[in-house]
Amino acid sequence: MDKIVVKGGASLHGSVEISGMKNAALPIIYACVLVEDKCIIENVPDVRDVALSLNILRDMGATVNNIAKNTVEIDCTNLKVGTSRSELVRKIRASYYLLGSEFGRFGRSSVAYPGGCDFGGRPIDQHIKGFESLGGTVNANCDMVEITAEDGPRGANIFFDFVTVGATINVMLAAVLAEGTTIIENAAREPHIVDLANFLNTCGARVSGAGTDVIKIKGVTSLHGCTYAIIPDMIEAGTYMIAAAATGGCVRLTNVIPKHLESVSSKLEETGAVVDEYDDSVVVTGRDTIRKANVKTHPYPGFPTDMQPQMAVLLTLANGVSYVSEGVYEKRFRYVDELLKMGAAIKVDGRTAVIEGGKPLHGADVVAVDLRAGVAMIIAALCAEGTTEISQIHLIERGYDDVVGKLKSLGADIEKVSYPD
Ligand code: UD1
Repeated sequence: MDKIVVKGGASLHGSVEISGMKNAALPIIYACVLVEDKCIIENVPDVRDVALSLNILRDMGATVNNIAKNTVEIDCTNLKVGTSRSELVRKIRASYYLLGSEFGRFGRSSVAYPGGCDFGGRPIDQHIKGFESLGGTVNANCDMVEITAEDGPRGANIFFDFVTVGATINVMLAAVLAEGTTIIENAAREPHIVDLANFLNTCGARVSGAGTDVIKIKGVTSLHGCTYAIIPDMIEAGTYMIAAAATGGCVRLTNVIPKHLESVSSKLEETGAVVDEYDDSVVVTGRDTIRKANVKTHPYPGFPTDMQPQMAVLLTLANGVSYVSEGVYEKRFRYVDELLKMGAAIKVDGRTAVIEGGKPLHGADVVAVDLRAGVAMIIAALCAEGTTEISQIHLIERGYDDVVGKLKSLGADIEKVSYPD
């Protein structure tokens, strides 16, 4: 069993390079299923969800080669529809992008129900609504999802009941090779939606409007290979920004798009940190006093739900009472019990956490209950007195590229340690 062991007290200083964005790399990897040609994808983060997704495609007959550091060549010409291994698919959420890609290319799909972090119920009704609008007959239960359409997907107008990243991506994937035009309204606007659209267009698709809430897709008959670089990971960047502020350090983050970080930058400034923006880097300087602040998570461009646990940790150090409200998921405060073990004073009332700041944190044995919660535990441990041991770190490794090495280079006292099971 691996753990991350952190001795708290060091403030972070120096420069850290941000990796490619996991949540953009994953849909783009599954989008390669639509392309009967070689795609070279650059700036791919070295994280477990990506490795697992590449293995899913390999298993299905795709040729996948790591041709350089963070660069992978994918050729799905010989991929066999409906052959994904259920035990792999069930390990992550993003594997459900196979539904859109298989349906888009083959007119049918059969994939196990996806897994992913536990934030309460995570239904896929909007995905199903989208596939049905495109002419698919969908059979779904908690084991498998199957889609069929005799003549393949057909363009349609789809209005999502609420903003969903996953369903927007799945409908885009299903629609690029469909006959006719698809219009998605109330679409998600996240930077990774734009990145996926840019990748698809580089392969010859005709997607417009990505980044707004109306996306138009004119179906084309085939896609060709391309070389494409993934955008930087705004959630990884935001995590290091908060770690710098929480430890009272000063960190330059390179390979970022400052525009994608605006909601986090402005909230950090509200707490007293200083954020200086440059073309493709930001510098975050922490202050001795951290001011309380209220946060509510929303779809992009609002404050990201994937930054909520990290921000909550910062606010445990603030001078007053802060309110953190979760606007995307039913249950995303399971990590609070772990922070209580470290001395934080937090009460959860439904979708809001009330944080009484200023209680000193101390080291403890804690669990990474999910990916972002796990990295929030690392930030808490950096600020705590004494040593913290974090278990279930495979969840952190699902989405953070070399988090231990990067934090160590910034001066943290942090190690990954293997214990016998
Ligand atoms: C993606 C991200 C995840 C991030 C989330 C919100 C990936 C692999 N995961 O997840 O890290 O936290 O966006 O930014 O990119 N919902 C339904 N029915 C549906 C679809 C969604 O009820 O058919 C609900 C979800 O349960 C959730 C909300 O809508 O409460 C938003 O979900 P969605 O934006 O789809 O998130 P994911 O794509 O699953």
